[in-house]
Amino acid sequence: MNTEDLGNSKILNLLFKPAGMLMGSRVRRWLMNPMKTLQGAGILPGQTVLEVGCGTGFFTIPAAKLIGDEGCLVAMDALSDFTKQVSKKVKSADLKNVRVVKCDALNTGLSTASIDTALLFGVLPWPALPLSQLLPEMHRVIKPEGSLAVWLFPISGWVPKSILQSELFTYVSKRNGVYNYRRC
Ligand SMILES: C[S@@+](CC[C@H](N)C(=O)[O-])C[C@H]1O[C@@H](n2cnc3c(N)ncnc32)[C@H](O)[C@@H]1O
Repeated sequence: MNTEDLGNSKILNLLFKPAGMLMGSRVRRWLMNPMKTLQGAGILPGQTVLEVGCGTGFFTIPAAKLIGDEGCLVAMDALSDFTKQVSKKVKSADLKNVRVVKCDALNTGLSTASIDTALLFGVLPWPALPLSQLLPEMHRVIKPEGSLAVWLFPISGWVPKSILQSELFTYVSKRNGVYNYRRC
């Protein structure tokens, strides 16, 4: 499915557009500090970071602040409603280090070995992001010494095992609820 079809897919729109309100809700912010969770991914100032499925931008603005002016954050989502919302937030926060991209994360179009850390935060498991296609694409775009950071909803316990079984990433640590992997 190309990006246009995916962005227009009924199931994606039906599920995620209402979920958008919850994604950025005060209750979520009260339950979860996005900056603290991002710190668990160990992202550093000056890094190039890919955020897969940025949604309404719950993690986007804090991630951009963590990498600083010298860094670059690619905030990617298949739904234009979400990329538009995130673009507005980026603009009103006057952040120059974020590129918001409407794209299918299974085929990012990013250069090979261009990313220091890829964030899969709150996007797995999901049928539109099958690990069998997503992990090879992440492996392609992440630099040889780069990392994959995964934050999961509590019901997704089998995902870490599947990532290891892919043999594309090795487990490094779990910090602040974030699973960290190094690219093999
Ligand atoms: C549950 S939301 C999580 C959003 C955000 N990471 C957060 O935690 O608030 C999952 C997001 O992944 C996006 N998504 C799903 N399949 C995708 C794909 N193949 N490519 C890019 N984004 C996708 C959806 O549009 C949605 O915004």
